[in-house]
Amino acid sequence: MTLPARVRIVEVGPRDGLQNEAQVIATDTKVALIDRLARAGLPAVEATSFVSPKWVPQMGDAAEVLARIERLPGVDYPVLTPNLKGFDAALAAGAKSVAVFAAASESFSRRNINCSVAESLARFEPIMAAADEAGVRVRGYVSCVLGCPYEGAVAPSAVAEVAGTLYDMGCYEVSLGDTIGTGTPGAARRMLDAVAQRVPVEQLAGHYHDTYGQALANVYASLQAGVAVFDASVGGLGGCPYAAGASGNLATEDLVYLLNGLGIASGVDLEALVDIAAWISAQLGRPPASRVARASLAHRGRRGCAA
Ligand code: HMG
Ligand code: MG
Repeated sequence: MTLPARVRIVEVGPRDGLQNEAQVIATDTKVALIDRLARAGLPAVEATSFVSPKWVPQMGDAAEVLARIERLPGVDYPVLTPNLKGFDAALAAGAKSVAVFAAASESFSRRNINCSVAESLARFEPIMAAADEAGVRVRGYVSCVLGCPYEGAVAPSAVAEVAGTLYDMGCYEVSLGDTIGTGTPGAARRMLDAVAQRVPVEQLAGHYHDTYGQALANVYASLQAGVAVFDASVGGLGGCPYAAGASGNLATEDLVYLLNGLGIASGVDLEALVDIAAWISAQLGRPPASRVARASLAHRGRRGCAA
């Protein structure tokens, strides 16, 4: 299959990246991060989550973040909503687009959102109805599509079942999350082929964590399967608080570097992304995790024009 000519990148650093940080991050820093990412050409920047602050304290300033971001025209700023309470709060804070999140594994569902997979899907029904009434778009996530931290291997058929249910409920897109980053390209392809029996491939997104260094390989396998939407996190920030050992997401700059090399358009400015990766990593007190950011910064340094 020929590769897609264009890919849409959903930047998840401000949410999936920062939710896992132990240190308190100032709302100013979160707002600046989102604004800089939108200005770098990202068409979607997942801004925050309206989850319980007892469960994820880092996202406790969700309403303030949404109130203060710049909101560039044409840029989508989705937020996570696990239940109707979260959806109502997101709507009140001005969200125009939300994401619900389920899992392909029962144990992960229980640890992450304190209910079974079936219960989570039932909780999404009133969100879908309220979103429809409010003209809000809903994206669906499935976690643990290539492995679960508690159960190990996850059957492609289980992923297809949950993804298909989210799609049938009205999600415009279903993002398939390798939450713990254990997947490899063959397994990713088998999973995608199963899911594509239930959800058109145009409505699928790949969400790969880079724990085992396989995220770009999994992206390539997904491109070959026709997937043209990928989630990524600037600087490779990330992990999931309920998936021990899950390290960062695929770094957005690693993804853009790959796409540029393949001649696949994304509309994202790689140099600007590297600057943002360096800046947010410095805010967090460490160098950027991604190889493309580190190599680009070293290259600039050698040319005497370090950012
Ligand atoms: P629960 O404790 O079962 O909820 O948590 P509850 O309904 O029993 O309520 C308990 C308390 O939470 C109550 O407050 C509620 O009002 C409050 P209290 O009476 O004790 O003061 N509450 C809320 N507060 C704010 N916003 C809300 C909300 N709902 C209830 N929306 C719940 C259930 C789902 C709320 C909880 O488990 C939770 O917030 N979980 C979030 C976990 C999370 O954010 N995980 C990370 C995101 S998923 C991810 O990273 C994976 C992904 O990236 C894809 C991938 O990589 O695979 C998407
Ligand atoms: Mg994730």
